[in-house]
Amino acid sequence: MAIISSRDADHPQQGTQPRKVRKESKEPLEATPDSQPQNLAAPDPLLLRVENAPKTGEDLLQPQAHPAEGQEESLRPRTLAEYIGQTELKEVLAIVIAAARSRQEPLDHLLFYGPPGLGKTTVAAALAAEMGSQFYMTTAPALESPRDIAGYLVRLKRGDVLFIDEIHRLPKVTEELLYPAMEDFRLDITIGKGRSARMTSLPLERFTLVGATTRVGALTSPLRDRFGQVQRLRFYEPDELVQIVMRTARLLNTSIDPEGAAEIAQRSRGTPRIANRLFKRVRDYAQVRGDGHISQAVAAAALELFHVDPMGLDWTDRKLLTMLVEQFGGGPVGLDTMAAVTGEDPQTIEEVYEPYLLQIGYLQRTARGRVITPAALRHLGYEAQSPLPLWS
Ligand SMILES: Nc1ncnc2c1ncn2[C@@H]1O[C@H](COP(=O)(O)OP(=O)(O)OP(=O)(O)O)[C@@H](O)[C@H]1O
Ligand SMILES: [Mg+2]
Repeated sequence: MAIISSRDADHPQQGTQPRKVRKESKEPLEATPDSQPQNLAAPDPLLLRVENAPKTGEDLLQPQAHPAEGQEESLRPRTLAEYIGQTELKEVLAIVIAAARSRQEPLDHLLFYGPPGLGKTTVAAALAAEMGSQFYMTTAPALESPRDIAGYLVRLKRGDVLFIDEIHRLPKVTEELLYPAMEDFRLDITIGKGRSARMTSLPLERFTLVGATTRVGALTSPLRDRFGQVQRLRFYEPDELVQIVMRTARLLNTSIDPEGAAEIAQRSRGTPRIANRLFKRVRDYAQVRGDGHISQAVAAAALELFHVDPMGLDWTDRKLLTMLVEQFGGGPVGLDTMAAVTGEDPQTIEEVYEPYLLQIGYLQRTARGRVITPAALRHLGYEAQSPLPLWS
């Protein structure tokens, strides 16, 4: 499977499996599946990490990819069997794949959504690999002009997978070209300009569009409706994150015990990308301060040094929760009030912060607003105080 992506080309490839990579040019028509790899001479990974890696606990806990994190590609599971967790999603995909294969048809268009770092890109690439398809990867903001998307579409062969990341950010003209392409496998193009301009349609092969977004609500309904399947990725359970950390340790030849992995997992906000990032910091610490082995004590000491909260809370989570306690007696408080008081954007609170706080049971959503839970109060050290009005 060749993977053609603009992002890949920006990162040194350090995996064991050589992958074909081509830098996405302004002329996507020129990129061909059998392009030669770029010169991938990688800078010293440790140097890269030390110079560019996020340093504070806050940065370490950001779910978005850090531009300097070059090793992410090599840690991506390549197949669904290797892909840990998301059991229901994998079950659905296994059925879809088996059905498409038995009919000898390409997969229906698929949309994956969920918070950053949960494995949307990874699952899309694994899907293409399972189907034995070519995987083309791009991101919506890169598809500025009709020419960009047309370049991809005309190149796709039957069954190929076109992956568009951040699909909620598609420019309008591009999105409109996609409607007939997705539905009728047809590319409508305008030839010429002014009064002599005329429309023509080109037939396309039956390809599969896979979209990924962190903001499914921001997709227009005509676009959303053209996906045969819309699948949500959920946060990972601690035991799944333990498996992910153990796998990463194996791939990076690091000695770790399950308790050490559990300590990292616990602080990873249910997110594999954060788990892998914390793992790398702990590995540095174990090499410098210890004998290289990651035990629970080593992981805890390292993460404390990097100011990573034991439950993975960051400054904004804490601010939201303390505000609830100190200004509103624990809630209920409406989203807009929370946004006004903390100075955060309501959408960011709803899409980035709340899902994790709800997942770990630190926040509850009620009809009258958000309410803090006793578990959150204990974590923040309020337990010694008299009961809040909410429970009195
Ligand atoms: N199920 C999984 N098993 C093991 N590792 C995983 C899994 N899902 C994700 N990862 C790891 O987490 C990293 C981030 O995953 P990925 O890039 O697919 O997330 P994403 O949802 O596409 O994020 P974004 O919204 O930022 O694009 C991957 O490099 C991979 O190493
Ligand atoms: Mg992604």
